[in-house]
Order: sequence, then structure tokens, then C-alpha cells
Amino acid sequence: MDAQLLQWLSVNLRWFHLVTGAAWIGASFYFNWLNNNIRPAGGDDPDPAVKGEVFAIHGGAFYRVSKYEGAPARLPAILHWFKWEAYFTWITGFLLLGTTYWYDAAAMMVDPAVRALSSGAAIGVGAASLLGGWLLYDGLCRSPIGQRPTLLAGIGSALLVAGTCALFEVLAPRAAAMHVGAMLGTIMAANVLFVIIPGQRAMVDAMVAGRAPPLGAGAAGALRSLHNNYLTLPVLLVMVSNHYPAAWSGDWGWLIVLALCVCGVLVRHGFNLRGQGRSRPFVVSWIGAGGLCLVALATLRPGPAASESGAPPVSTTQAQAIIATRCMPCHATEPTLPGFVAPPKGLALEDRATILANHEKIASQVEARVMPLGNLTGMTDEERAVIVAWARGL
Ligand code: HEC
Repeated sequence: MDAQLLQWLSVNLRWFHLVTGAAWIGASFYFNWLNNNIRPAGGDDPDPAVKGEVFAIHGGAFYRVSKYEGAPARLPAILHWFKWEAYFTWITGFLLLGTTYWYDAAAMMVDPAVRALSSGAAIGVGAASLLGGWLLYDGLCRSPIGQRPTLLAGIGSALLVAGTCALFEVLAPRAAAMHVGAMLGTIMAANVLFVIIPGQRAMVDAMVAGRAPPLGAGAAGALRSLHNNYLTLPVLLVMVSNHYPAAWSGDWGWLIVLALCVCGVLVRHGFNLRGQGRSRPFVVSWIGAGGLCLVALATLRPGPAASESGAPPVSTTQAQAIIATRCMPCHATEPTLPGFVAPPKGLALEDRATILANHEKIASQVEARVMPLGNLTGMTDEERAVIVAWARGL
């Protein structure tokens, strides 16, 4: 496909994905907040089925929202459902994953230093992680283990660790990290499609037929909704960190991604405790945020300065020669590699001044083995070491 067209497609998909994701997460946060803040109605409500209500002020108006313990006596004429936000977030996310990673699997998903997979095999691994993650999680929830929240959380976390390690064993680290996020996002959307909405539909259908609504279906949906609530922050963190090699590269990339997930869950947990009126709830959120700082500190790689390592300093001319052969086929005003019509990210590494101005970025991308993309230009480990030593010595 024309490279420029692909860029426009990507920009628009990203926008669509963000907008629908914001709507989904906004609704999810709002209802979670409602649940935590509903207080007993105070006896002045004529409807005995109303178990609690919440007053709020927003946008210059007062609001009063009531919550039913079970179902109202009669279905209202207009009942709002919240599902398209979730579906469209997943659909646009899946299309983004497809156009960014699967479409160019050789460059984006395969790192021969990790495993020399074919493009087809890499895409197969990616697809299997999305489908397999959901099937395993859903099977667990439906099994007797699903009735025991602590055991479910323990086994679920162990499976996440195993899945993350497996992805980092076979895919390029950046693709592995993105697939961990996509796997969790798929579980969230599938929870809406296969459990939450069907449960609600069963309740509404029963009421239309004049039967008592099956409240168990609602309870199952509420549990999945709670799982989704805890997954939102980890998924967002993994998604937004994808452009930053520090968040997933190196020998411990899998552990960094998992640590980000734990921190996201802790921050969310603090907010949930606060909603429930527990004392000093933000301690948990602070532990989560502090954890993030620790992860950042633990992953800093200062490395020896060139003068301390004993090796002779690398000149910019030496570095520029490597960049010319390994980077410029793509990063030039007129790239020579087929499929590239403009320098990626507007970064043309043609002249000395640009190379010097971008030395930090160049070294971090090269050290993390993200660039050259898919190592299509065959950069050797020795050349990587030279580039890193050059940047550190500046
Ligand atoms: C096969 C083509 C190709 C080669 C070869 C290549 N790059 Fe890139 N580079 C890209 C693409 C595509 C992007 C944009 C990636 C993205 O959207 O995240 C990029 C982005 C970058 C960025 C910006 C990263 C960011 O997110 O801000 C830097 C820095 C970079 N490359 C450095 C290099 C260096 C240094 C080399 C040589 C060692 C190199 N690239 C070789 C295709 C290439």
C-alpha cells in the first residue's frame, strides 16, 4: 500500500481509537464512581426498589441518580446501553495492530536476535495471544475457581506472567509489549460482548416477557465489569509506553511490562478504596506511583563513559559512516528502501549536525535494538556497540 496513504489511515485510526477509548473508559469510570458513591435514599423515594442515590453538580446543573438493587417494576420507555464504545475501541485497536504490526510483520514483529520467525508465524503468535488469553481467562472465570476471587486473581496473574514471558521469548520486544496490552484489551472488550451485555439482555428480555429478571446474570456481569475496571490503567500504561524503549526493551523487558501492569492496578485500587470511603486510600495509589518511579530507576542504564572503558573514543565520522549504511536507506530526504517515500518521523540522518543533535535518540533506539527497523539493513552487534560508545563519549 502507498506509504503516505498508510500514514493517513494510521493517524485517523489512532484518533478514532483514542476517542472511542476515552468514551469507554469515561463511562466505565463514571459508573464505578456512581457505585462507590451511592448512599441510601433516605426514605423519601416513593419507589421501594430504589436502594440508593447520588446527587451531583456538573456543568451548571444538579443531577440525582438512583440505583436499583434488582430491577425496576416496569421497564422505562428509553433504556440506555453502553456497548458501542467498547466494541469500537476494540475494532479500531485491532485495525491499528493489524496495520502497524501484522501488515509489516517482518520489520515490526520479528527480531532475529530473539527468534528467527517467519512473518506468518509471528502473526500467528500475535493472534493466538489475543484469542488464547481470552479463552483461558473466560474458562477460569466460568470454572469453580471463578467463585473464589483471591484464587482467581492469583491464577490469572500467573497466567499473565507466563503469557508475557512467552511473547517476549518469540516476538521483537516492542511487538511483545504491544501484544500484552492488546491481549488485556481484548479480554476487556470480550467481557462486554460475551458476558456483560448478554446478561443485561437476559434481564431485559425476561422483564418484557413478564418474568422476574435473572439477577445472577447481572451479578456475573458486575464481576467482569470489576475486572475491566482493574485492567483499564495497566492497558493504558502499556499502550502509551510503546514508543519508549525504556518501558519494554533489554533483558528484563517482560518484567518491566509486568511491573507497569502491577503499578497500574495499584493506582486504580487506591481510587476504588477512596470511593468506598476507606481511610487513607491514596497510600495504595502512592505505592503504585512510587513503584513506577522504582521501575524507571531500575531500568536506567548509565553505562561507562567512553574514557573510563579504556577503549579509544569513537569519532563522529566513524558513527556517521555506520549511520549512512544502516540508517539512511530509510532516514533520508529521499529514502532508497522500497516502501519508504519520506524519512520516518521526519528524521533524515544525512548531515553531521542532525546526527549530533539526535545522538541520544539514536543511541537509545540502537541500544534497545528497535532501530534499524526489523534490522532490515543488517546492523551488526559491533556496530551497535560503536554507536552507543560514540553517543556516550560526546
Ligand atoms: C527500514 C527502515 C528503517 C531503518 C533502516 C531505520 N529506521 Fe529508524 N525509523 C523507521 C520508522 C518506520 C520509524 C518510525 C517508528 C514509529 O512510528 O514508531 C523510525 C523511527 C526512528 C526514530 C524516532 C523514534 C521515536 O519514536 O521518536 C529514531 C531516533 C530512529 N528511527 C533512528 C534510527 C537509527 C539510528 C537507525 C540506524 C541505526 C534507523 N533508525 C534505521 C524506519 C527505519
